[in-house]
Amino acid sequence: MALLIQNGEIVTADSRYFADIFVEDETITRIGSNLELPPGTEVVDARGCLICPGFINPHVHIYLPFMATFAKDTHETASIAALMGGTTTFIEMCCPSRLDHALDSYYLWKEKAHNHSACDYAFHMGVTRWNDETESQLRRIVADGTSSFKVFLAYKNFFGIEDTELFQTLRLGKEMGVITAAHCENAEIVSRLQTYLLSVGKTGPEWHEPSRPETVEAAGTHRFAAFVELTKAQGYVVHLSCAPALEEAARAKQRGVRLAIESVLPHFLLDNSLTEQPGVEAMKYVMSPPLRDRRNHRSLWNGLRSGIIDTVGTDHCPFDLAQKGLGELAFTDIPNGIPGIEERVSLMYTRGVVTGQIDIHRFVDALSTRAAKLFGLFPRKGTIAPGSDADLVVFDPTYRGIISVKTQHTQNDYNAFEEFGVKGRASVVTVRGKVQVRDGVFVGDRFRGRFLAREPIGDTHGE
Ligand code: URP
Ligand code: ZN
Ligand code: ZN
Repeated sequence: MALLIQNGEIVTADSRYFADIFVEDETITRIGSNLELPPGTEVVDARGCLICPGFINPHVHIYLPFMATFAKDTHETASIAALMGGTTTFIEMCCPSRLDHALDSYYLWKEKAHNHSACDYAFHMGVTRWNDETESQLRRIVADGTSSFKVFLAYKNFFGIEDTELFQTLRLGKEMGVITAAHCENAEIVSRLQTYLLSVGKTGPEWHEPSRPETVEAAGTHRFAAFVELTKAQGYVVHLSCAPALEEAARAKQRGVRLAIESVLPHFLLDNSLTEQPGVEAMKYVMSPPLRDRRNHRSLWNGLRSGIIDTVGTDHCPFDLAQKGLGELAFTDIPNGIPGIEERVSLMYTRGVVTGQIDIHRFVDALSTRAAKLFGLFPRKGTIAPGSDADLVVFDPTYRGIISVKTQHTQNDYNAFEEFGVKGRASVVTVRGKVQVRDGVFVGDRFRGRFLAREPIGDTHGE
């Protein structure tokens, strides 16, 4: 069926104007005024609202075996939560452990999502070891449409890789035009600091941050940037959390290293004082890199405003209170992760755009367009133009609400942003022309989401 979204103000990364949007067969076909409509066209009135391209979350964990347990969401719960918050596409980390077979893991992750997602999705392929089979397996995965790799320089012996493996991954990425995302912390130093802190009785969640201090992340970022520079590959730093790491990444970018930077919702809004609360209250806020001293917030917002920080993801990774409690005796056993897939858009709008920290175009760019460009989805996703998928968010800037675990859609028993106020929300959300959310209620097809096959987009030339 055809769809018309009328009377709204279209906002993209570089333009803002009033026009109506006409959609046929999942695609935007016309933008203008007084458009002729075939009989039966569904009409959405967006008066008083902004119309943004569907938001893209470049960093989520949904199926995730990790730290002796599994993240709580299913693709159904996470994708509905995503849509309720205005996210129409997410890119999930496929994270085999070092013991797992890469290709089998890739098919397992795909199977988990297939016919179980309400929004569109893609994967970053985790490269967590390099053996005789790895290269041919990765070539098959890229040929299947997963054209980004992910490496961990943290989590020694589980996901973490060695220098030779990092080099080989980046060389293959360069050859194939595939971008490599990296969790940048120095695994060796983290491991030593963890052992030391536990040995002197510092076992509570407040010691998580001191076990992986800012310098450790800066060192990991520096190392990754050096490898990206030397291999002439294209790199993407995930969940950059603090000023020293930002300085390392920015220096590399400024000397021409092809490095993009992502920061995630918790690092803009939360700080490490939350891990000084009693018991499980503190454990809720354990993620890696850790929540930092709040003086880092200013650097992140400045970096986002200037565009040095390219994208905003969430690192959505829900573990419930019972799972968090596994770390009662040692902070090293607290499953790492904070959810946020549903809250990203309205909180970044409230704390970023409403306060004047970023303008509306940077907001759309960082939460949608730039991820689409970096990960081979543009212009199918990430913009509003004839020929693009009709993933549209009618964003109501007059909405006022309070975030609460009681109304969230992610499958978890706490919300890290409990009682945060929001100004503005996604009131109508479409996925390829189908209304999935209306007036803030999920009304759509739970299994509409499709796997997005992506072509490699990087430069494959030169040594
Ligand atoms: O704490 C985090 N970030 N958990 C998820 C795994 C990762 O490092 O991204
Ligand atoms: Zn990570
Ligand atoms: Zn992550």
